[in-house]
Amino acid sequence: MTDARVQAWLAVRDPLERQLAPIGQAVIDRLTLRPGEHVLDLGCGIARTTETLARIVGPGGRVTGVDILPAAIEVRVPETAHLRHVDHVIGDAQTLVFEDSYDAVFSRFGVMFFADPVAAFANIRMALRPAGRFGFVCWRTLADNELDSFPLRAAAPCLPGELVADAERAEHFSFADPAFLSGTLEAAGFVRVTVAPVDIATCAGSLTDTVDLCLRFGSLGKIVRDHPGYRADAQTLLEAAFRARYGSADPVLRAATWIVQATTSPR
Ligand SMILES: C[S@@+](CC[C@H](N)C(=O)[O-])C[C@H]1O[C@@H](n2cnc3c(N)ncnc32)[C@H](O)[C@@H]1O
Repeated sequence: MTDARVQAWLAVRDPLERQLAPIGQAVIDRLTLRPGEHVLDLGCGIARTTETLARIVGPGGRVTGVDILPAAIEVRVPETAHLRHVDHVIGDAQTLVFEDSYDAVFSRFGVMFFADPVAAFANIRMALRPAGRFGFVCWRTLADNELDSFPLRAAAPCLPGELVADAERAEHFSFADPAFLSGTLEAAGFVRVTVAPVDIATCAGSLTDTVDLCLRFGSLGKIVRDHPGYRADAQTLLEAAFRARYGSADPVLRAATWIVQATTSPR
């Protein structure tokens, strides 16, 4: 049984994966994973990052996907059943007692939703072995992020100003401030923390796929989900904005991310 959020996610899964895959890959590249390693995919949702990690560590390694949303894990368990070195856990990463200890923890946009981020990161640190590596990606500001701001600006003429203004205070921008981000990791006991601004060109596919995705996810997607009455006008404005900029080509939007690396030991 899938909940409404996971059903919405499944409806745009392929375009969303196309859009986010290069962003996840940028983190995976920096983690320099090796065959045989144990890796945690934190806040895995229904993403296919778990399979990507599993290919790298190979059958001698292990990948555990963890997510707080039972419906997401219910989707992932049968899909990965053929991979004997992949398992999944339903749990809150802030408090979960991890049964394995990991060489690396990876997360693509799964760490911005903690009520107490220091406690959450301290718990994640406990899941890592000595010299364990933590690598994740989160968003920079809405203003920096064309992927989010272009659709929002395009649809803004049909939206109340306060909804547009509220967008930059959304939970998914909770680590937009790099000083807060590195301070939080250090307070949780991580060392050798680096927070690198990385811009990545993303493409979800055709204009139709991209518009559909923008109306379901990101800042505009959240407004339309909460206030479906704006959907039709937002769609018209967004299609016009994409056509004006890209003609019939697939839209490419720039994602502004922080790619974050940290370890449990000084060396
Ligand atoms: C923006 S989605 C990203 C999903 C996936 N990593 C991807 O890139 O498509 C954030 C995910 O983090 C999960 N999440 C949020 N808070 C969590 C927590 N405290 N513990 C575990 N998972 C959490 C959500 O359920 C969701 O699946």
